[in-house]
Amino acid sequence: MGWHKVTEVETLKKQIKLKVFVNDLALLLIYDHKRVYAINDRCPHLGASLEKGTYDDGVVTCAKHHAQIDVKTGEVLEKAKILFLKMPTKKTKTYETKIEEGTVFVKV
Ligand code: FES
Repeated sequence: MGWHKVTEVETLKKQIKLKVFVNDLALLLIYDHKRVYAINDRCPHLGASLEKGTYDDGVVTCAKHHAQIDVKTGEVLEKAKILFLKMPTKKTKTYETKIEEGTVFVKV
């Protein structure tokens, strides 16, 4: 476990959300109000990439079945829905981040 350089803040600022890899682990970075959040990119429902979802006000919504995840805590705010059925959706893992001299680091 240690800190890994993943991107530059300016790059993330422009895109708001960015998928990066640390070794084989896919992470989704979010830039919001000068803070960076990192969560596992795999949706906790069926594993779709959360990069393809949307981000708004601290919440990532999966493009596949619309599970909503709090990027600060990894908690599921809205379970995945297939037709009108809500599906079991577990909490997702979050990772500590830091910014040093314009570079973003994630602790993995
Ligand atoms: S895979 Fe994300 S909500 Fe189903």
